Amino acid sequence: MTFTASGDAYDRYMGRYSASLAPRFADFAGVAGGRRALDVGCGSGALTGELVRRLGAERVAAADPSPQLLAACRARLPDVDLRAATAERLPWQDATFDVALAQLVLSFVADGPAAAREMRRVVRTGGVVAACMWAADGGMEMLRVFWDAVLELDPAAPDESRMPYRTVSELRALWQEAGLREVETAPLDVSAGYESFDDFWNALLGGVGPAGAYAASLDEPRRAALGAACRRRLGSPCASFRLAARAWAVRGFVAD
Ligand SMILES: C[S@@+](CC[C@H](N)C(=O)[O-])C[C@H]1O[C@@H](n2cnc3c(N)ncnc32)[C@H](O)[C@@H]1O
Repeated sequence: MTFTASGDAYDRYMGRYSASLAPRFADFAGVAGGRRALDVGCGSGALTGELVRRLGAERVAAADPSPQLLAACRARLPDVDLRAATAERLPWQDATFDVALAQLVLSFVADGPAAAREMRRVVRTGGVVAACMWAADGGMEMLRVFWDAVLELDPAAPDESRMPYRTVSELRALWQEAGLREVETAPLDVSAGYESFDDFWNALLGGVGPAGAYAASLDEPRRAALGAACRRRLGSPCASFRLAARAWAVRGFVAD
């Protein structure tokens, strides 16, 4: 479990990306007024907040298994139906929603096909099921810089980009095998700003996600060497900087 850190730590690390990804992803999934939407793996609520802005809190529900992140989401959005649950076992009846979305979640679920089937189950016929994950091919600069620096120092280390559902072909196959129709994919490009290298590095030291967990597992000399390698790979920035991030998104319709 790599999502046990606080909502603040999550927001410093990934929330600065997921907040700008959320409106792009909601557009891709066709989220518009009058719909009822479910945010699966809502974390601290970046996408949930975007859904509430578009639909109103009474038409939005969300689920996440992390007590810490669910509490952060609840503090931010107290009127949303928030439940502690995994994507593989959603505590809602069949056909409850017009759209179900999972932003940056699929790589972390234990059973991707079960998650896709559950998302389809809770959406009505004609509704939309959509997901997105950071691209495996280096399009998410923050993760690429970090893991390239890790591999430079420890070639046997795990590389997060090898996790599942980070390519168009895997996402498309998952959606088709779940029985979704008219499956389409698209790149979603965003970026995030850092005030300084320390801002970048401190966000990674919050222990969030596979990168944060890896950094936290190191002793101090190895963590310092990793920080120095990241700084070099970023061009030793002396001022603020931005990093680009590409996610691949997939959507499909629920058929009879
Ligand atoms: C990278 S975060 C994304 C959070 C949020 N959707 C966002 O865009 O900021 C991954 C989230 O997946 C959640 N998660 C992990 N395993 C899960 C599962 N089996 N079902 C649903 N969510 C899961 C984590 O608790 C975490 O909140």
